[in-house]
Amino acid sequence: MTDLSGHASGPPPAFDDAKTHRQKARSAGMDPDYWYAVGRSEDLERGKHFETKFWGRSIAVFRGNDGRVRAVENRCAHRHLKLTEGQVVGCELVCPYHGWSYDGDGNARIPHDLFGKKHPKLRIHALPVRERYGLIFMFPGDPEVAKTRDIPSIPELEGPKPWPHAIVQFDSPGHHSMLLDNVSDFTHGFLHRKFQPFEGTDLLRCETIGDRVELEYRSKIAAGKMQDMFIDRSESGADHMLACYDYPYHWSNTEGRIKHFLFTLPKDEKSNRHIFVFYLHPKAIKLPLLGPRLPHWVMQKMMTMTRYVTLQPLLGQDVWVLGHEQEGWEKFWDRPAPELSPVVREFQSLTIRKWEAYLERTRGADPSKRHLDVLAEGAAQ
Ligand code: FES
Ligand SMILES: [Fe+2]
Repeated sequence: MTDLSGHASGPPPAFDDAKTHRQKARSAGMDPDYWYAVGRSEDLERGKHFETKFWGRSIAVFRGNDGRVRAVENRCAHRHLKLTEGQVVGCELVCPYHGWSYDGDGNARIPHDLFGKKHPKLRIHALPVRERYGLIFMFPGDPEVAKTRDIPSIPELEGPKPWPHAIVQFDSPGHHSMLLDNVSDFTHGFLHRKFQPFEGTDLLRCETIGDRVELEYRSKIAAGKMQDMFIDRSESGADHMLACYDYPYHWSNTEGRIKHFLFTLPKDEKSNRHIFVFYLHPKAIKLPLLGPRLPHWVMQKMMTMTRYVTLQPLLGQDVWVLGHEQEGWEKFWDRPAPELSPVVREFQSLTIRKWEAYLERTRGADPSKRHLDVLAEGAAQ
């Protein structure tokens, strides 16, 4: 139904009420039983904290004085204040109101008078946390599953000489499926015509295999004038890309030389954090006049510079456009949106299928297990 302005008369439907494929994709959540990157390690110093979210649930991430990162539900068990309004003391997060403090397992300690009562055993939900590749990962789902499921392996970023790389993190408006549509579909190269991150949109293959959608593109990568100067194409043209929606991650590999990984954190229905890691084989990098075979530190410096000169401004265009797409979606979600690219539908199908599987798996489950609720044992009323 539309009003005289042509807008849909109500908000977009929730997943259970969604009728079309697109409506389902735009209302699906992401399966919490995976590791999600929440930020860069270097941005969280000892004794500091920040608030993040997973699908609407607020989480406090903090680094204790011992250097270890912890994540707990962002809610004091006493009067439900956000713990991120407080501060880190030692290895605990302290609520600003009455000073109750929480360790990395979510156990509460009460510092004030107990009026003759026994110290109640109170615990808020704690999330498994790990650091890898310079990123902080948390596991918002079942902690038991976290023990058997690993963070995706990126051997090129490990060891004493990781490939030169750049991390680009941004918070964007829009449902998380919008960015996946964006990265899957090269026809939006028009938006990036100033930077030309790819030239050509020749789709060679699009195939769903289990929880992955694999794509092959014939496309010249890093085709823009600026980037092209720094890519050595003497051994490979860097024009054949394998891209994959490897649920819930996205990655690409251009002839073993130019690669990226994308970690998306669905903060809620219309805001996300996306962390891109771009990494290049040392043989893929050259400097005009000096040519290839550069010292490793020079290549790493070049990647850092690329982050500011091209990657961030380029991805900023996507952030800008996703905000507008979200606006359009909220107004016109009931209108047809013709989709020409087959890859968009495949990506959306995987998102929908995984969300349905998660809902099915947890149907009838104890809500305190399914969500990040306060786990209180013998709590004082
Ligand atoms: S509200 Fe947090 S200590 Fe009282
Ligand atoms: Fe883009």
